[in-house]
Amino acid sequence: MSSVQTTAEADAPLLEVRNLMVRYGRKGPAAVEDVSFSIARGETLGLVGESGSGKTTIGRAILGLLPVTEGQIIFDGRDITRASVAERRALQGDLRAVFQDPFSSLNPRRVIGDALTEPLRVAGVGRGQRIARANESLAAVGLPAGSFDRYPRQFSGGQRQRIAIARALVTDPRLVVCDEAVSALDLSTQAQVLNLLAELGAGADLGYLFIAHDMAVVEFLAQRVVVLYRGKVMEQGLTADVIRNPQSPYTRVLMAASPVPDPDEQARRREVWRALRNEAKAPAA
Ligand SMILES: Nc1ncnc2c1ncn2[C@@H]1O[C@H](COP(=O)(O)OP(=O)(O)O)[C@@H](O)[C@H]1O
Ligand SMILES: [Mg+2]
Repeated sequence: MSSVQTTAEADAPLLEVRNLMVRYGRKGPAAVEDVSFSIARGETLGLVGESGSGKTTIGRAILGLLPVTEGQIIFDGRDITRASVAERRALQGDLRAVFQDPFSSLNPRRVIGDALTEPLRVAGVGRGQRIARANESLAAVGLPAGSFDRYPRQFSGGQRQRIAIARALVTDPRLVVCDEAVSALDLSTQAQVLNLLAELGAGADLGYLFIAHDMAVVEFLAQRVVVLYRGKVMEQGLTADVIRNPQSPYTRVLMAASPVPDPDEQARRREVWRALRNEAKAPAA
């Protein structure tokens, strides 16, 4: 490979979403429209918006779990918008997901080890290596030795989310789509899992698309953020800039809705949120 090509590949974003439009059904309205953003190698991008704004739709389109109506998805310089089943299979180790409810994606009758070795088997890794890497991955997310041979029901909600993270990372991926990955957890478990994601991403050349309805969790993890409202991008930029000086009323609504540990502060924010929500209704028309 020539050095020119190598440089071009290193400079290209890890993921580019260009003018994405997704329609459920032929005649339905667009669930997302004209959505464009990119994720650099090793970067965490937050995708925030209220319920129904199209976050999951975007995540699933990237993962190849639903058809793209218009636009393009470029991963690592390759157009994967309409990748075949075989092409998606080849990508499964590089492009992975963590969803909100890991219990529903773990087979209750199979041990955790099976869930972790399966993606490695698909990637063609030999049996001995599969078991070793699954155990390494479980240790990396802080699960006790012996977790490999236990069943999903034997773990707490926070532990199951760690298992989901271990399963996402076991293939040494380039990009992980986390869709509301901590939303079902209590605040202290949320903080632990967020810290874990940050830790695991830091050393590795690993990018995250971090989807949440909560600006506070995005602020903690993401260098940049995209704010979505009714399927459209309202604003995007460095997280610190967007939080310091939000350009869209929807961004302010999301910020005010973030839960905080202090109940007085929480009550105050709820008041602010109520006021902002009324304010935000005006430009919605
Ligand atoms: N399977 C589906 N069929 C039809 N409409 C859907 C489907 N899934 C989501 N939608 C619609 O698409 C829009 C975006 O939903 P979604 O991507 O789930 O939002 P979010 O994840 O931000 O809550 C909503 O209007 C929702 O009702
Ligand atoms: Mg969703």
